[in-house]
Amino acid sequence: MTSTSSTATASTATTSASTTSASTTSTPAENSSAEKPSAEKPSVQKPSAENPSVLRLAVIIGSNREGRFGPVIAAWLLDRIRERADLMAEIVDVADAQLPTTFARPPQAGPHEVARTLEAADAFVVLTPEYNHSFPAALKNLIDWHYTEWRAKPVAFVSYGGVSGGLRATEHLRQVFAELHATTIRDTVSFHNAGASFDDEGRHREPAGVNAAAKVMLDQLVWWGEALREARAARPYAG
Ligand SMILES: Cc1cc2nc3c(=O)[nH]c(=O)nc-3n(C[C@H](O)[C@H](O)[C@H](O)COP(=O)(O)O)c2cc1C
Repeated sequence: MTSTSSTATASTATTSASTTSASTTSTPAENSSAEKPSAEKPSVQKPSAENPSVLRLAVIIGSNREGRFGPVIAAWLLDRIRERADLMAEIVDVADAQLPTTFARPPQAGPHEVARTLEAADAFVVLTPEYNHSFPAALKNLIDWHYTEWRAKPVAFVSYGGVSGGLRATEHLRQVFAELHATTIRDTVSFHNAGASFDDEGRHREPAGVNAAAKVMLDQLVWWGEALREARAARPYAG
């Protein structure tokens, strides 16, 4: 690993979060969509062939709700990734994926762009809100449309929501990714009362804690990503 990350860009934004803690109940207020309006879509950090040793991340935005908060979280994460020389990232957005909810692939269809991005990735970060104590249906659909793309690769989670910070969504996703032969990263970042934690420009009001949590998570993701990339190259994963 090492090298430099390639192109940057990306809007600013930040969020509040912590790596663990979980509430066990939610209130009706949690289910409201009274978050701030969604930010502009974050720009994409494109992987570069110039730096093949850099770990290629696919950052998956798991919400497609109108007025969603997800792009603010994504922009915050891209800022953290941009600070590092060992990572580069490409966005996979469920809002753009346009994957049918029936598993009927058009006969002439080639590999979907999403599939190509996931296949090329060494590691994933899934950004998930919490909807009714779990993760969004559109995210599950995107996961289910793919199989080999996830195998023997690490998956990290950034969650957000009401008082729970999306932690239940993350724990549900761990079960799903275990079935897909993926390895989930222990430490996560979770944004409790996410909307209120950012200012109108998408900057986190108290970024130290969440930024530190992101470093821990990304350090672990890099370790696993490099280890599994080497292992897949030395001995293809047989399942
Ligand atoms: C249908 C729905 C269900 C929700 N359920 C929960 C919940 O169970 N727990 C929670 O903490 N927040 C819940 N929320 C609040 C969302 O997590 C929060 O609004 C978040 O910003 C949604 O992500 P998005 O704006 O990117 O779609 C819910 C929101 C919606 C729209």
